Amino acid sequence: MIAGNRTINYLRISVTDRCNFRCRYCVPSTPFHVIEHEKIARYEEILRITRLACELGITKVRITGGEPFVRKNIFSFLKKLCAIESLKDISITTNGSLLTREKIKELISFGIKRLNFSLDTLDPAKFAVITGRDRFNQVRNAIFTAHELGISPIKLNAVILKGINDDEIEKLTALTIKYPFHIRFIEYMPMGDSAVEKQQQILSDEIKEKIESEFGKLLPVQRTGNDGPAKKFQIDGANGIVGFITPISSHFCSECNRLRLTSRGTLRPCLLNNYEKDIIDPLRNGASDNELKEIILSALKKKPSFHGLTDHSGNDIPISHMTSIGG
Ligand code: GTP
Ligand code: 5AD
Ligand code: SF4
Repeated sequence: MIAGNRTINYLRISVTDRCNFRCRYCVPSTPFHVIEHEKIARYEEILRITRLACELGITKVRITGGEPFVRKNIFSFLKKLCAIESLKDISITTNGSLLTREKIKELISFGIKRLNFSLDTLDPAKFAVITGRDRFNQVRNAIFTAHELGISPIKLNAVILKGINDDEIEKLTALTIKYPFHIRFIEYMPMGDSAVEKQQQILSDEIKEKIESEFGKLLPVQRTGNDGPAKKFQIDGANGIVGFITPISSHFCSECNRLRLTSRGTLRPCLLNNYEKDIIDPLRNGASDNELKEIILSALKKKPSFHGLTDHSGNDIPISHMTSIGG
């Protein structure tokens, strides 16, 4: 599928807006509603939309949430998803807290080879402050068990915030010396009304400087065709990768190859733009495969060339909070 001069081959599917964590940069600070069950796209519906999107050129799928593993029967859904032949790459973004050894083995048996985990700190007390949950050990165990069982690459997402976890940058980076993990520092995106102040945002250049003053110059790593938004580097001699995801300081919209399906069954062409095209109602009202494909293509026509975090006068535009879109 083509949107402007971009080829769209990557579908990110949010299977739920619910999460067992309350990460301060992700969920709103004020009370919020989760979507009622009947409004959530059913697994069979998601599978149908995915198959049609594959016929239009999607080869890569990522499952996100909220937290995908809070949704009931997710494993039988994942098994069916992994059976779609034209999908070359299926991965999941998770907080890791519900992933036991048995469950990771099951994912591997379906053909899932890689996982992305959120990990903002290596300090259990700080972990509880950031996520609102005292679950550091479960998450740590899930990451290391996945590594032991051969999941590769394992990508770790860290949102660094001033005064909260900016003293963890070196420790998180040091993980890559011994382990083949990709640690990715993601610039905080002000979305919805999270508990984070804009002044707590740290841009990648500052993080990179800190890392280089501790570990020496970071060596650039060649991008491969399947790369996501991270700019990749390596500490000399390290096993893993240090990545920077820079939606604020240097947006990557011109290379964006993604389309999102929200848990409400809407197509969202850009993470940071509230335009969404409903596909679930037409599907439930009996639309044919061709009609649904037309809806997918028409959503892509609305893919903006640049994200909508600020309007032309530089003011913030309120964006739905991250847990409802899945990052
Ligand atoms: P892979 O490269 O396939 O591993 O995917 P990824 O790095 O995009 O996956 P992940 O879900 O771990 O994304 C990490 C974070 O990068 C997201 O949670 C967002 O914060 C950010 N991100 C991912 N995709 C986009 C995007 O299209 N636009 C913007 N602005 N940020 C994104
Ligand atoms: N800004 C940047 N990244 C965020 N994430 C969640 N909310 C935000 C935000 N406001 C990231 C988390 C998680 C991924 C799904 O999204 O790090 O790994
Ligand atoms: Fe849940 Fe992930 Fe959002 Fe944290 S970042 S609240 S784990 S969806």
